[in-house]
Amino acid sequence: MTPGQLVNIANEYGSPLYVYDADKIASQYNRLIKAFNEVPQLQVNYAVKALSNISILKYLRGLGAGIDTVSIQEVQLGLEAGYKPEQIIFTPNGVSINEIEAAAKMGVKINIDNLSVLEQFGTKHPEIPVCIRINPHVMAGGNSNISVGHIDSKFGISIHQIPHILRIVENTKMTINGIHMHTGSDILDIEVFLYASEILFDTANHFKDLEFIDFGSGFKVPYKPGDIETNIEELGNKLSKRFNAFCKEYGKDLTLAFEPGKFLVSEAGYFLTAVNAVKQTTSTVFAQVDSGFNHLIRPMFYGSYHDITNISNPNGRERFYTVVGYICETDTFGNNRRINEITEGDILCFKNAGAYCFSMASNYNSRLRPAEVLWYNNEAHLIRKRETFDDILRNQIEVDFETKKLQTAKN
Ligand SMILES: Cc1ncc(COP(=O)(O)O)c(C=O)c1O
Repeated sequence: MTPGQLVNIANEYGSPLYVYDADKIASQYNRLIKAFNEVPQLQVNYAVKALSNISILKYLRGLGAGIDTVSIQEVQLGLEAGYKPEQIIFTPNGVSINEIEAAAKMGVKINIDNLSVLEQFGTKHPEIPVCIRINPHVMAGGNSNISVGHIDSKFGISIHQIPHILRIVENTKMTINGIHMHTGSDILDIEVFLYASEILFDTANHFKDLEFIDFGSGFKVPYKPGDIETNIEELGNKLSKRFNAFCKEYGKDLTLAFEPGKFLVSEAGYFLTAVNAVKQTTSTVFAQVDSGFNHLIRPMFYGSYHDITNISNPNGRERFYTVVGYICETDTFGNNRRINEITEGDILCFKNAGAYCFSMASNYNSRLRPAEVLWYNNEAHLIRKRETFDDILRNQIEVDFETKKLQTAKN
């Protein structure tokens, strides 16, 4: 999208604002499909947690995606967006067995990552097939918070516990229909995927009734010009060949599944904020925007980099700024950024704001969460209203201290 289009959208819908480019989502989806076109059965399940607006879910359904969900509410959202239960996989971690049973009742695919839950579920519902999330003990991912396949991670059932899984399966007579792994996010090196895939294939050979193997996600997307990204085309070429060969050995055409979040929506998102104040200090010039980590927490939480440009003055001379928010905490979005000269009131644009941005937003400091707009067919569509003060009060219950005080005095 051009700076001019984004400025117009900000003028129409106000700031702060999330804007998503539908075409970019479609081109990423199609890129993935094309990279794996040698695999006869491919299933791309979009990781809803990345960006869960119902219009985005509907749009991805139209492209042909299924969804990967991690809470019963995400399952409900998916059903509401028109996904059929069989297009939804439920991959929770640390939830109660009741939540898993509720999802199973809705008919969605179940992915279990805990031996105790597997045993309970198999004992109670041997007729419901389940997928197993394996922890391959591979250290992969851009940051310790997003590396989830290593030995200390809470996710998945260790590959060293396969004998125990087999014992549970044998005793309960349950069916294992899928094997899954997700080792982390921001994985650069496709060799890591290929290495972990071999572990999945070895694991898969223990189970005779598989229908799919789910390779999770973790594809790295570029955050700045020249940034390295996962080479999807090379991965597609290598993994497809290996997968097809495995299916031959296994004696059945299995479905190859992925569950990308970032890859599909990160680059499609723009976060627009207005500059409230430009503040010179002895050490820097702060650009203080009408937002903070209540709206976009990734830089503070993961140290993530978001490219920041001044779309109100795209040709102005460049100066160095520290871009910060208005929250009563240190909420630095970017340090020492070279940005076209900023005047109070200008609109700054944060790139890569599609994944884990709005979906991680909160009302901290009793601030309102931003509106969301989808740019589709060359038109802006409001897909979430800006919150109002009523939303802050909703669900709060006021205690009537005056009456209580009178009653206490009388007693
Ligand atoms: C189980 C699972 N699948 C898929 C994803 C999506 O990962 P990414 O956004 O890196 O594609 C995540 C992210 O946390 C995840 O935990």
